[in-house]
Amino acid sequence: MKNSLIVNRERCIGKRDKMIFGQFIEHFHRIIYDGIYCPSSSLSDEDGFRSDVIEALCKIAPAIIRWPGGCFVSSYHWRDGVGERRTLFDKAWRVEEDNSFGTDEFVKLCQKLNCEPYICTNAGTGTAEEMSDWVEYCNLPCEGENAKLRIKSGNKEPHNVHYWSIGNENYGSWEIGAKTADEWALLVTESAKMMKRVDPTIQLSAAALSDVNWNLKLLERAGDYLDWISIHGYWDFPGANNECASYEQALAFTKNLDGAIKKVEGILAATGRSDKIKIAYDEWNLKGWYHPNSHTKHVPADKELYITPRDKNDDNSKYTMADAVFSACFLNTLLRHCNSVRMANYAPTVNGRGLVYVHDDGIVLRSTYHVFDMYINLLGEEVVDLWVQKSEITEVKDKWNNKVVIDKLDAVATKCEDNTLAIALVNKAEGENAEVAINAEGNKKWRLYTLNGESADSFNDVNHPDSVKIAETEIECDGETVKVILEPHSVNVLKAIE
Ligand code: AHR
Repeated sequence: MKNSLIVNRERCIGKRDKMIFGQFIEHFHRIIYDGIYCPSSSLSDEDGFRSDVIEALCKIAPAIIRWPGGCFVSSYHWRDGVGERRTLFDKAWRVEEDNSFGTDEFVKLCQKLNCEPYICTNAGTGTAEEMSDWVEYCNLPCEGENAKLRIKSGNKEPHNVHYWSIGNENYGSWEIGAKTADEWALLVTESAKMMKRVDPTIQLSAAALSDVNWNLKLLERAGDYLDWISIHGYWDFPGANNECASYEQALAFTKNLDGAIKKVEGILAATGRSDKIKIAYDEWNLKGWYHPNSHTKHVPADKELYITPRDKNDDNSKYTMADAVFSACFLNTLLRHCNSVRMANYAPTVNGRGLVYVHDDGIVLRSTYHVFDMYINLLGEEVVDLWVQKSEITEVKDKWNNKVVIDKLDAVATKCEDNTLAIALVNKAEGENAEVAINAEGNKKWRLYTLNGESADSFNDVNHPDSVKIAETEIECDGETVKVILEPHSVNVLKAIE
């Protein structure tokens, strides 16, 4: 066999936290309004949430959802979205925001999905006091005007929001209220101090990146207050005309997917904080979102130049097996780093570059949705040792026509609660099968779940919702070695059944 893997089920790498399959929703385009929250739709429940979307998300059981941004949050004031709502102009995305979806609605959504709410605060134009007042509103039983405002808004019991992040990408010139590393370390310290004085039990993160200077200043000054450090990852930026990477070009992005993780792991180790502070990859997606003329210095006045183009994010033909194969490789990376990366949030969940496309009459489950379905519902929580004894390689061209050599196979082994093996296997090659031999550990019967379409460019859409779907086959072996043939450009899970 050209590819062979050796699994050592007795050697546990770590237990993954379900929060690595987390989600992110932002007040951008049709993610919230006309996405998850559509009170006027006949398909929505009594609280205004699309029932079909809730049902689809329940199946992938996000353990945590991050909200309200993203760039949006850096000029968002939470009081405008509770009690009597204020209709304002959102300076981040340059649209009117009626704030009908606010903190209470977000917490209600998380209750429906049985997941943890994770609130990202405004460290752009916001203050330490405003951030800590938000913690008061959510978590104090009744003390002070903010908790009393929650009660007056109809929520007698505290929302008990346990996860909070200070800021979003405040290191970036595109962000409203961008900060220098020194300014950032001070603001995070003072904000964290006040937030934890309101509720010392909250878990706090802060916006960071894999930059040593930014993180060392942040950790040196604010490290004692932090439980997480947040980083983001987008690989294929769509350019002026939503030019997305081809399947081959997308494969090039799968090389060194753990580069940022290893740098942050090193910084945490060097500062002695590896045990206390974990990594939250709290925005990630193969594709950057398409919003031309939004983050530039000289923004246009013509909405046709900066609002209308956002509809191109809803072009389902862009979400193919490239997105599925990349996302599976990224989730495999998180599983391999499960002791340091304990949260990750797909950006975004609905519409845009999301897992689920929502239209007036229903939804479309994109290729990436099925990757989450497989990884959450088929893999085990214990990551065990897997040695890639042999893997074919394949050469691809990246988006800039550079040659990149990558492994054809990307695999991670897990052990389920019933002690059976479940192995994630990705065949990245566009035009050929991958023949793989794996030590069977006495298991003579296996089930192979394969996510695929007819071609690497297959995608799901309103008129063909199952072009990309999961198929199952059973494989028998002698108990010594199980041999599988993985289809081209496919995401697979191989589960031992006897
Ligand atoms: O493109 C969407 C933006 O990407 C998010 O709002 C921000 O957090 C990231 O830069």
